[in-house]
Amino acid sequence: MNFETQHITIANVLSQARNFIPYHDVRILLQSVLKVNHAYLIAHPEQSLIPTQIQTFQLLVTRRVSGEPIAYILGEREFYSLKFKVNPSVLIPRPETELLVDLALEKISSDIPCKVLDLGTGSGAIAITIAKLRLLANVTAVDSSVDAIAVAKKNAKYLNVSNVHVIKSDWFEGLAGERFDLVISNPPYVIFDDPRLSQGDLRFEPQLALAAGLDGMDCIRLIISSAASHLNVGGWLLIEHGYNQAKMSRQLLKKAGFSNIFSRSDLAGIMRVSCGRYGNFLQ
Ligand SMILES: C[S@@+](CC[C@H](N)C(=O)[O-])C[C@H]1O[C@@H](n2cnc3c(N)ncnc32)[C@H](O)[C@@H]1O
Repeated sequence: MNFETQHITIANVLSQARNFIPYHDVRILLQSVLKVNHAYLIAHPEQSLIPTQIQTFQLLVTRRVSGEPIAYILGEREFYSLKFKVNPSVLIPRPETELLVDLALEKISSDIPCKVLDLGTGSGAIAITIAKLRLLANVTAVDSSVDAIAVAKKNAKYLNVSNVHVIKSDWFEGLAGERFDLVISNPPYVIFDDPRLSQGDLRFEPQLALAAGLDGMDCIRLIISSAASHLNVGGWLLIEHGYNQAKMSRQLLKKAGFSNIFSRSDLAGIMRVSCGRYGNFLQ
């Protein structure tokens, strides 16, 4: 794909590139090349681009045409109003996962120190957001992927968060004898042969972050059955799952000795998170 390079303006670029990718994507990519905001593009349609800007923009549009997610092209994604660095070794944080953080913040007091564990932290979006908004929480974030750990550590540093510790662990394996007040996880929960894994953005994301066995429940089962040994009595387990996994998750929570069990839907009305409190508590 080649644009005219003679005296090309913001208006020309916007109208030419939208023949290849949606306008929203064109605008975001152009803003990142010119390092300006949307209002600037609207206010300066006649501004010319220099050849290096045109070349860089063409390259980004070509990547988007090939299907690469915008978040990987830009190297960042906003989550809970914080900017997280991302690369293809981590899942792109999803807006629906903000529900998990909302529920965690409801359970964690701002005034009392507590220990929080984020299992499968990826970019660190959940752990770092909680750490940033609950300064007395001591947050441990684990992932089995060394590349993901590097990204989460970079995000903790870049977002200036010191109460989060990122470690490599296969779920609870590296946490023998440790107990927490709240365990949170957005684990992989897609069925291994789900056709969506080879479509859209998911094609570019790590399989390790997405697929979880024949029914998509492998990681959820393991986390729920092991969580009791790592929770203080009265502590909460909050877990994200697929649209049809809420009932199974609640049954697993009950079997594992949790009470006060409930599920919550996301903004799209999909049952997205299930929670339980470790021990025998009245509703
Ligand atoms: C769905 S992604 C969630 C990433 C991030 N928490 C978020 O919500 O954006 C699941 C994460 O679990 C990690 N994971 C997969 N298997 C794991 C295991 N056995 N132990 C620890 N983490 C694992 C993946 O590397 C991935 O980062």
